[in-house]
Amino acid sequence: MTKLKLAVIGCGRIADNHLRAVLANYRDIEVVALCDVIKNKALMEKLGYRIEVNEKDIPVNLGEIIHPEKINMYSDYKEMLQKEDIDICVICTESGYHAEIAIYCLNHNKHIIVEKPMAMSIKDADEMIKTAKENNLKLAVCHQNRFNKTIQKLRQAVDGGKFGRIFAGTARILWNRNKAYYDKGNWRGTWKLDGGCLLNQCTHNIDLLQWMMGSEIDSVYGQIGNYLHSYIQAEDYGSIIIRFDNGAIGNIEGTVNVYPKNLEETLTILGEKGTAVIGGLALNKILVWDFEDKKDSLEQVKKECDSEDGNIYGGGHVPLYQDFIEAIRDNREPLISGEEGKKSLSIILMAYKSQKDSRAIKYSEGLDINSRDFEGMLNGS
Ligand SMILES: NC(=O)c1ccc[n+]([C@@H]2O[C@H](COP(=O)([O-])OP(=O)(O)OC[C@H]3O[C@@H](n4cnc5c(N)ncnc54)[C@H](O)[C@@H]3O)[C@@H](O)[C@H]2O)c1
Repeated sequence: MTKLKLAVIGCGRIADNHLRAVLANYRDIEVVALCDVIKNKALMEKLGYRIEVNEKDIPVNLGEIIHPEKINMYSDYKEMLQKEDIDICVICTESGYHAEIAIYCLNHNKHIIVEKPMAMSIKDADEMIKTAKENNLKLAVCHQNRFNKTIQKLRQAVDGGKFGRIFAGTARILWNRNKAYYDKGNWRGTWKLDGGCLLNQCTHNIDLLQWMMGSEIDSVYGQIGNYLHSYIQAEDYGSIIIRFDNGAIGNIEGTVNVYPKNLEETLTILGEKGTAVIGGLALNKILVWDFEDKKDSLEQVKKECDSEDGNIYGGGHVPLYQDFIEAIRDNREPLISGEEGKKSLSIILMAYKSQKDSRAIKYSEGLDINSRDFEGMLNGS
């Protein structure tokens, strides 16, 4: 079978994880072009070098599958699409550019893997989903932690009815991001290109929480503030309560203010017949697993599912790519489709609107929320 040809647009920090995922799936997929507005050939050499020295998991001689000299570099993605034969575009730019680039690429017949959050407005997310559908193309959003063994195990427990009635779940992301972190990119913490801790750091866990609750969103109440990061526009602390259609409640506490360093990232699910807590650096360890059926012990599930992945982004990009390749080959939706990616985005934008309007926001209101609606909202908070 011919390999799918892939291009990465935006070659900053997270692009490495994508290139590793391509290499791990080298039988099915290859990188043919890289694009970054501020980069030149030096970047490609750097990328090739970084991959060669860092990659441990590829079961072949890297020299046989990496040919940096065959990868063309561009600074304009539109020119790249004109000149290259590409099946998949991976969008790793600042979040505020995702939608515009994705829609352009979809209209040029490319499948899309887009980094989280998929867009900065509900309207843009809808437009991306619609354009993919109209062109019969696949669109996946990088919520890679859904592929963690721990998370897959938890979802199987939910699907298998192990919890009985699930009445609540909690996502806690208690992290520290200091000025040096925000200084790495002037887009960070802006309403136009990033949002605050909920939209950037907490979006994965919010995605997982809503995925486990097995129900659509009814309403969202949110309170946010910027307490310790006067040099960013958006929130550094947020608290959200979600009411789901099935009556269950989701609680979210997210912050980048914890002194003096990251404290906790956990996902807790509470049901009438079971309790589970997942934690670890990237939700890769089972901390509590206690069910009425007593079919599996904490020790068993830890042995089966815990991983020692030292990467804060986890190991999920590799299976996400596997799923995406299969989705293209089998003409089915990827696990984290555009519709799926839109759910966490909606929760967070609804929480921002809730703060602005001082009320709970109903999903049924027919929402048109854009992160830019909140410019200036937290000044002086
Ligand atoms: N899935 C995850 O766990 C995860 C982790 C980190 C970041 N992210 C997401 O990835 C995205 C990028 O984050 P990052 O930390 O890599 O940012 P970054 O600032 O390191 O990189 C972004 C790159 O995009 C480039 N760019 C901007 N506009 C472009 C354009 N029109 N064409 C080509 N290149 C363009 C910039 O020059 C920059 O090099 C963000 O949306 C972020 O939320 C996801």
